[in-house]
Amino acid sequence: MLSAARPVITIDGPSGSGKGTIASRLAQRLGFTLLDSGALYRVLGLAALRAGLKPEEDQEAIAALAADLPIHFGRAVTDAPWKDDSVWLGAEEVSLAIRTDEASAWASLVAAIPAVRASLLQRQRDFLGDAGLVADGRDMGTTVFPEAPLKVFLTASVEARAERRHKQLIAKGIDAILSALLRELQERDARDTQRSASPLRAAEDAITIDSTDMSIEQVMAQIEELIAIKIGKH
Ligand code: DC
Repeated sequence: MLSAARPVITIDGPSGSGKGTIASRLAQRLGFTLLDSGALYRVLGLAALRAGLKPEEDQEAIAALAADLPIHFGRAVTDAPWKDDSVWLGAEEVSLAIRTDEASAWASLVAAIPAVRASLLQRQRDFLGDAGLVADGRDMGTTVFPEAPLKVFLTASVEARAERRHKQLIAKGIDAILSALLRELQERDARDTQRSASPLRAAEDAITIDSTDMSIEQVMAQIEELIAIKIGKH
């Protein structure tokens, strides 16, 4: 059950909208737990890929894999949750392996399988422990935490999102072509919004923030105002 003492803030939106950064900063500032639900789909995508399972043909086997997958986040076992963003598959750290282009594509494919989403539902809800929760994903407000008191739908134009990703990659010394990034984002947007199981969409009671022309600080300030109104002081 949700309660005022352990509120849930959901942040949904398309790839590259800045959700991850905002969710992580918000969880840090509030002392809340962070659920990066995309990482769950990414780890499953990686595990399916390695097991040689095909998203179109092996849906049952992938859902079974999801049910037993030993995923955990480093931050869940540290005192300062936000200091350790590592992601683990059993004893193997997969923080980088789940971010490759191939793993991203597989995450999006396995996320479209209804039985996979059903299998991961309770696991996501279990992240709500004694503290509040900031839940980052595509269907946090519509499906996983429909009773959350504050739901944000964070978006930005596809061009702005491609440009942000381009800058991030270049800053890391990784060669990237803007037009290819734009095309990839458009493909992922189409897959995430058009699937029948929990497609990406804003919950009816979500507040949409279009961050195309906003800085991270401006988005944070707007969400903090909403927290004060919807949840109260934290
Ligand atoms: O947020 P992300 O880019 O790490 O998500 C990876 C993939 O998982 C992306 O294609 C969308 C999918 N996803 C989803 O379907 N539902 C969620 N709640 C989170 C992510």
